[in-house]
Amino acid sequence: MKAEILKALKENKNQYISGEELSNRLSVSRTAVWKYISVLRKEGYDIDSSSRKGYKLISSLGVLSAEEIQSELVTRFFGRQIFYYDSITSSNTIAKQIAAEGCEEGALVLADHQSSGKGRLGKQWSSPPQTGIWMSIILRPEIMPTQAPFITILAALAVAVSIEQATCIKPEIKWPNDIVVEKKKVCGILTEMSAEIERINYIIVGIGINVNMDKDDFPPELEAIATSIKMITGQAVNRNILIRTLLENFEYYYVKALANGQRSEIIAEYKKYSLTLDSRVRAIYQSAEIVGQAIDITDEGELIIRDDDGQVHTIMSGEVSVRGLYGYV
Ligand code: BTN
Repeated sequence: MKAEILKALKENKNQYISGEELSNRLSVSRTAVWKYISVLRKEGYDIDSSSRKGYKLISSLGVLSAEEIQSELVTRFFGRQIFYYDSITSSNTIAKQIAAEGCEEGALVLADHQSSGKGRLGKQWSSPPQTGIWMSIILRPEIMPTQAPFITILAALAVAVSIEQATCIKPEIKWPNDIVVEKKKVCGILTEMSAEIERINYIIVGIGINVNMDKDDFPPELEAIATSIKMITGQAVNRNILIRTLLENFEYYYVKALANGQRSEIIAEYKKYSLTLDSRVRAIYQSAEIVGQAIDITDEGELIIRDDDGQVHTIMSGEVSVRGLYGYV
């Protein structure tokens, strides 16, 4: 019934449709119509009501919809299959189950809310409803497991480019994969993998983007280090369109890197967004602390740091703090 009411509202976009007409058309009471309208509003639909004229759909901006994402999607395999959930524990956890059961490469697990969103290093990832993009893409690249970190580099570049295309913001990337705007984090990426020594079974690229959150949507402890696109621009963004753009960009870089082997071009583009390059950094790598200057990023996506004794280190993955960011002074 809810879907039928929504369909009627969409067909009458920009016009009011009376409660009486809806109740006659769908053979339910006017009270039932009103109750379904309330449910739709809770889901994020902006519906105006007037006692004389009835109901009018103003905007679906707050609503995530697999149908809308796929409606103009021009990818070959990214997002061709979407598993959508209103609420989920963690899209990475569910994606792992789906991948293990044998889905197509490029399948997307998408949730409007995560009750146990996972961040890197065992941290939690705050994922309130109707505000963000909480999604995981299942990939099966034919590369060695040791090269898996490069997939995260591709994802970070795709997110930065997509945010830039969808908004007036130019984001920066904190190596390897935090997306930062005005020194605060707007996106984090958690890549998980199932592999044998020489073969990847699947990779899950979990992407969390803070899109339409207001200040109060963040837990107090994140206030100083996290922000959202809406908080920066003052405008809400259509999440369906941003996801579509992201799937298209991510697929483009994935194919370019893996099938066409054009890694150096990709890294050149990645470097343009890099916040880490030429900054003073502190890295924990293989249990040792390295403090120095980030001087380059290799074509494999590794970070090169020259420490204060002049020694040069190549870092494949790990935690790197950048001076001036997230409280590192
Ligand atoms: C980080 O700590 O920076 C990584 C955060 C990754 C969060 C995303 S949200 C979608 C996917 N599902 C999860 O549980 N985590 C990732």
